[in-house]
Amino acid sequence: MNLVIALDGPAASGKGTLARRLAEAFDLAYLDTGSLYRAVAARVLVDGADPQDEAVAATAAEALDPADLQRPDLRSQAVGAAASQVAAQPRVRQALLDFQRRFAARPPDGLSGAVLDGRDIGTVVCPDADVKIYVVASPEVRAERRHRELIARGEPSIYPQVLAEIQERDARDSARAAAPLKPADDAVQLDTSELDIEAAFQAAKRIVAETLAAA
Ligand code: DC
Repeated sequence: MNLVIALDGPAASGKGTLARRLAEAFDLAYLDTGSLYRAVAARVLVDGADPQDEAVAATAAEALDPADLQRPDLRSQAVGAAASQVAAQPRVRQALLDFQRRFAARPPDGLSGAVLDGRDIGTVVCPDADVKIYVVASPEVRAERRHRELIARGEPSIYPQVLAEIQERDARDSARAAAPLKPADDAVQLDTSELDIEAAFQAAKRIVAETLAAA
């Protein structure tokens, strides 16, 4: 059987780390779907184009080069902000949908399933996923994590600014018409505000085991 685990949630909720660790623990492939939107945004910015221009962004999404998913600049704040803009465009989302569904249905390297993290995996990309986890944390906790991450990478970071950006991004990701950020009806919510990485991982593993046992 092909096991699909969907992790959704807002920026810096910890879903990426959890998804990567779950994939490792269950020997599944892992796809960070945010990196697809980031790669499209980075391509548009490098070409000197406007990320708000849907035709330009859609063309970049249709021509997405998997090698672009490894670009070192994907995590920068400029690319993150542009990614949120291109992610609001239906044509971009459509172009990336097939890539994500193919990955989930036929994971690379002959692995027997996949973990995908993003915003709309449980609602749109893989509505039939075996396990759906919606990862949340307070905006302040998420801003603190992102702030520390940027400082650790040697990037300049000002906490109030990071918090404002997180709140702005949440609002844009939740308010957009195309596949807004929201939990699937059958997702299990995991609040990581008070949990360190290890505790959050143990909680996520428990959710997977309990969901599969109940199926
Ligand atoms: O998770 P992230 O910060 O790398 O995501 C970058 C942007 O892409 C973010 O604004 C939300 C958007 N995104 C999305 O709309 N759908 C996904 N499945 C993943 C990310």
